[in-house]
Amino acid sequence: MAKNKDSQLIMLEHSKAKMELFGRYLSIYLNVIKRVSFIDKIYLFDLFAGEGKYLNDEKGSAITIMESIKNHYYANGESSKNIDVWFNDAGKSEIEPELLKIERVERFVNEIYKPNNVNVKFTKKEYSEVIGEVINQLQKIRDSERALLFIDPWGYKNVKPTQLKQILKNGKTEVILFLPIYFMYRFVGKALTDETFAGGKPLEEFLTELFSGKIPDIKNQINFINDVKEQFKKYLGLKYVDTFTIERETNQFFSLFFFTNNKTGFYKMLDAKWDLDEESGRGFKIVNPNQSLMFDEITSVDYSSMMKDFLKSKQVITNQDLFDFGLDSGFLPKHTKKVLDELKHKNLIEVISLDKEDARSYYIDDNHKRKVQIKLK
Ligand SMILES: C[S@@+](CC[C@H](N)C(=O)[O-])C[C@H]1O[C@@H](n2cnc3c(N)ncnc32)[C@H](O)[C@@H]1O
Repeated sequence: MAKNKDSQLIMLEHSKAKMELFGRYLSIYLNVIKRVSFIDKIYLFDLFAGEGKYLNDEKGSAITIMESIKNHYYANGESSKNIDVWFNDAGKSEIEPELLKIERVERFVNEIYKPNNVNVKFTKKEYSEVIGEVINQLQKIRDSERALLFIDPWGYKNVKPTQLKQILKNGKTEVILFLPIYFMYRFVGKALTDETFAGGKPLEEFLTELFSGKIPDIKNQINFINDVKEQFKKYLGLKYVDTFTIERETNQFFSLFFFTNNKTGFYKMLDAKWDLDEESGRGFKIVNPNQSLMFDEITSVDYSSMMKDFLKSKQVITNQDLFDFGLDSGFLPKHTKKVLDELKHKNLIEVISLDKEDARSYYIDDNHKRKVQIKLK
């Protein structure tokens, strides 16, 4: 066995945070879809599956997926939708050099209980090849099927915005993409301006495609993350794109980008994210005495002011509008309620019933059966 303290062999804290969020989201995803009776099949793709398990015994994405399916099956009276899982990785194992990574993945996956209606396949293809096959498959997806892709490369070289567009086109697919923002940020200025910068080509292509030639906001990494997110929204024509940001060392940021057309899926992801980071819901903060200032910047989003501005922005604002506003701003109904409680306490708002019953609360939820107007006094 190779002895190397490399992050590829030992799972570091930031990767654990990534896996934890991914695992939580997957369990929620399986539960949400389970309740939709007309859906009869789920496709899960893990196209950079890795080693399966790290040297310090931490579990990678493939094991996370199979354990989530197993736990879901047992938690639901030994039942689950039909699921097809596709694991791919082209690399040679660093831990067992005589094996391919995907062979290790297969060995670990085979040790985990799998319901009969779950099919798993393993391939060792180049991403550029496998993604074409996945896109073909997703173009034929039926109305009763859903798909989730986990794209977890080391860099950003392989990821093409056009391919993401094709993947998401069917409206039935969700994508979780991990991007090494820190490395992109370091090279972005150079890649876009210096023609002779070797190695900048993939980044330049990625950003030129995504930003249609516009220069991204590179004031700091957080601005860059937000700009990439907003640009993804425009480029992919999606309402819901979110990020979960992980700080590796001081000022080294990595982000999980989450793409969906589905409001419920987005809401559930937000819930999973807030669970992991009660403070800001934006990312995982590694406990670090020399905590970066930049991270503090993003934790101090003033939701209260944002909401007051929103309440001023339209004549009539309903509980549904406030639920949607919260979601679009990355906040849950409980946060919206907290701000409304404060405003109410200061006698700054009133709640007016828009149906036949008295307004006793704010009823902040999606499609709440009650309808009220919330108004600044
Ligand atoms: C960040 S690691 C994946 C980690 C894994 N998801 C986990 O949770 O443990 C990236 C993986 O992509 C694989 N890889 C890199 N370039 C690839 C390519 N062009 N095609 C297919 N696999 C590739 C590497 O072998 C590596 O295992």
